[in-house]
Amino acid sequence: MAQGSELASNSPREHWGGRAGFVLAAIGSAVGLGNMWRFSYLAAENGGAAFVLLYLAFTLVIGLPVLLAELVVGRGAQRGPVRALAHFGGAGWGSLGILFVGAGFVILAYYSVIAGWTFRYAAVGLLSGFAADSGTTFEAIASSPQAILWHLGFMALTGWIVAYGVRAGIERSALILMPSLFVIVLGLAFYAATLNGGDEGYAYFLRLDVGKLWNADVLAAAAGQAFFSLSLGMGAMLTFASYLDRSHHLPNESLTIAGADFGVAFVAGLVVFPMIFALGLQDEVGESTVGALFITLPHAFEVMGGVGRVIGVFFFAALVVGALTSAVSVLEVVVATCIDEFGWSRPVASGTSSAAIAALGILPARSLEILGWMDQLAGNILLIAGGLGLAIFVGWVMDDPVREVSVGASGVRWFGLWRVLLRSAVPLGLLLVLANALRNLIG
Ligand code: TRP
Repeated sequence: MAQGSELASNSPREHWGGRAGFVLAAIGSAVGLGNMWRFSYLAAENGGAAFVLLYLAFTLVIGLPVLLAELVVGRGAQRGPVRALAHFGGAGWGSLGILFVGAGFVILAYYSVIAGWTFRYAAVGLLSGFAADSGTTFEAIASSPQAILWHLGFMALTGWIVAYGVRAGIERSALILMPSLFVIVLGLAFYAATLNGGDEGYAYFLRLDVGKLWNADVLAAAAGQAFFSLSLGMGAMLTFASYLDRSHHLPNESLTIAGADFGVAFVAGLVVFPMIFALGLQDEVGESTVGALFITLPHAFEVMGGVGRVIGVFFFAALVVGALTSAVSVLEVVVATCIDEFGWSRPVASGTSSAAIAALGILPARSLEILGWMDQLAGNILLIAGGLGLAIFVGWVMDDPVREVSVGASGVRWFGLWRVLLRSAVPLGLLLVLANALRNLIG
């Protein structure tokens, strides 16, 4: 492929206005429902502190190397995933990019449904307070025709932001939304610390039971979560990095993003666990995958009375913010690809893609079973397969990734280790997670 002339013939690529804009948008992609909803229920289900420690370890050993790999490919190629992979590996590797776009479709279709519930909880909490019978409320919210409307509304909002473009839409919203999210989550953690009886919650979350470290399911859950939470395996970080210029220090950016992502999940744990234990609701958690957040927490907010209502509205508002900035990054993968491949204008690409994804999302909005199935397919299989492909690509196929990553970051001593991890531990780890997921799927 004649990359040089091809790049030159397109209109100039958009770029981020500043470093803070890129970093906050990338953190916005990473921080989402995964940090609060998925992380809390997985930690509850998999033995608390042991899971948290393993999740941290996998963030460093698997998440960080793949994140840096996505940034390197995106910035180097200055193209969306399909063209970026073809740029460095030839047209055949472009098909891995097509897998990314497909994963984006599946993820956003159901993620938007959950985001719609979240939105509705925030609105209901604000307008009329949280209901006493939170289980019934959840069923009503999740499976009524209104679930479709909230999902469509959320997709419209996401498409609207993306239509404005990288600087005026994605960057500007991240600069406002992400700092608000940090303030809310920290404030909630301080509030949770004032509750009587939260000690057991902290103990569950923080006191390590070494015996739980060597359980295959806990290991797989922690590895999968490290990956999901960093938005890896479908080219979201790759696409964001394609709007970076070559002055950026990619290793520092990846450390900042991974640190903030782990930080928000950890602080969210400091909110959720003391609150649930203080109110004696721990047995409700882990009964269902969505229980921890959408049933138990509203129950807790209701029990806490007036203060609970305020706390609950802030909690769900933070979730909406996290979900929105994550959804924007998924949609951007699809939109960037449509612009690259079909030459569409950004508003047309954004309108068409969000409408198509919104239509697909009507299925999970009507059935929790389909939603759960899509979550399994995306989180455990598509993202992991995508990340595996990318690690192999950068580790084994790409010409000289260390030269590429050194641009703007000379003298970093762990680039050798990065490459070794991408060639060995990362693919091996992801392969095991994938095998475990396929076994569970069949079994
Ligand atoms: N990381 C997001 C979260 O924690 C969810 C997510 C998973 C995601 N994979 C993604 C977001 C890919 C954007 C792109 O909620």
